[in-house]
Amino acid sequence: MNFTQLLPSPSDIQCALVSTLSTYLSRRKVSNTIIRPQEDFDIDPITGFLPPEALPRLPAEYQIWEEALSEAPEVLRLSNDMSDAALALREEGETWRMEIRSRPTLEVNLLKDNPRLLQRAHVVLTWLVQYYVHSLPSPHPPTPKRIPASLAVPLVNVSRMLGIAPILTFADTITWNWELIRPDQPATIDNMKLAHNFSGTDDERHFYQVQAAVELHGTQVLRIIDDFYRIPNLDDLTSVFKVVKDLTRLTAVIEEISELIQSMRSACDPHVFYWDIRPWEGGSDSKGPSHPGWIYEGVDPSAPELQYLSGPSGGQSVVMHALDLFLDIDHKLQTRRHPGPSVENKRADRGFMERMRRYMLGKHRAYLEQIENSPRSIRELAQHTAVLREPYNNAVKALKSLRTLHMRIACLYVINMSKTANPRSVCPVAVMMERQANTMEARGRDEKRDPIRGTGGTDLVTLLKAGRDATARAVLEK
Ligand code: HEM
Repeated sequence: MNFTQLLPSPSDIQCALVSTLSTYLSRRKVSNTIIRPQEDFDIDPITGFLPPEALPRLPAEYQIWEEALSEAPEVLRLSNDMSDAALALREEGETWRMEIRSRPTLEVNLLKDNPRLLQRAHVVLTWLVQYYVHSLPSPHPPTPKRIPASLAVPLVNVSRMLGIAPILTFADTITWNWELIRPDQPATIDNMKLAHNFSGTDDERHFYQVQAAVELHGTQVLRIIDDFYRIPNLDDLTSVFKVVKDLTRLTAVIEEISELIQSMRSACDPHVFYWDIRPWEGGSDSKGPSHPGWIYEGVDPSAPELQYLSGPSGGQSVVMHALDLFLDIDHKLQTRRHPGPSVENKRADRGFMERMRRYMLGKHRAYLEQIENSPRSIRELAQHTAVLREPYNNAVKALKSLRTLHMRIACLYVINMSKTANPRSVCPVAVMMERQANTMEARGRDEKRDPIRGTGGTDLVTLLKAGRDATARAVLEK
């Protein structure tokens, strides 16, 4: 028997394809979709969400901010750093903070027409706030940390103009935190060096650089997404095969991003991350709801922006959000999918990813809204087009594996480290006592079910598992 006779002919395939697609397209009432170009959203074709050039320094009127930031790493240490070197700096640190408190509250209108200068002002002011708050000795019992008006007022004003939260964000530590090594060469990861580094360690440099590499790699994701929305008609074979090819490429890009995340381990020591880097990044709610938060002096306490004062998180990476929205990952559990969410999934902070969007540049958030509101959905298309189902599922499975790997990294760097002692404690005996206290606290936490929190103050294990499970639920049945 000639087996080829049993196979559908190319024209049969085309007919079947066109018929399923037309059902889908007529239901969606779209044959093509008009989208705004990425330039409208401050997305560069080469560097994506990173600006194509390093941010310029602020003009002379704001030199006092730039100077305070240059001086900060020389004189400030974490308030719980009891090493001799840190104690020797205590007086200079207090002088630095006193000067910040006594500085005038500068107007920022001068910057309003220059987005790059506004971004630089956001970087400088947010880094100053973190230096100020986390070097300030903490009284017992803890009281709210007061951010002086000289920082708080201009920061809130600059943030309003950019449409971003008035606190250190992923943009301030990753997207905008670099300079070119060779200014005459293009912005590639090998030609970038960190502009600011709290701990002064190579570990911190690596921590930011890996995440910057993910964002740069993400430009390929953006191109694939853009191409999908720009295909004029999806009801012909050439277009469908283009989508197959792009989904296959997307799977490879997600796997490459996983490799980048995995490379964190090669040069960022978990102890250094947990004890020397992470404490600088905590936001107003990083210690949980029972701890007093921050007060922005001179700012109306009911200002809506002040609801968004969590520290920076990978959850603010625009690339990761774009991937989730494109593949239609349902973090909010709004759709009925199989298998249903576990009890633990339902307990997770379902609004986390949406809230994290407030920590992005307004224009980048608008780009995500464009994906979200597009009437064209790759998942629905794959549901109705057999040939797309496997490539779509492969991309989703790659994203699920990325989240499983990321969970392992978060456990290694946060959960495991929370059971160790702070190496900057007073003396070896105190270190031993602190280690014992931490172990007991961890046990007590297990008993009371008080969770380890992420920089955003959320129960991180439940959150990360829920994200992974939500991703797995996007897989389509064959
Ligand atoms: C040492 C490396 C890392 C650690 C310790 C870490 C830790 C965490 C923690 C604790 C969270 C919980 C949410 C919160 O911030 O409060 C989180 C969320 C997240 N992180 Fe990371 N992270 C690391 C690297 C990365 C990298 C390189 C990326 C890639 C951009 C990334 C992307 C994300 C995303 C997208 C979330 C939101 C939750 C989710 O989508 O599953 N992280 N991370």
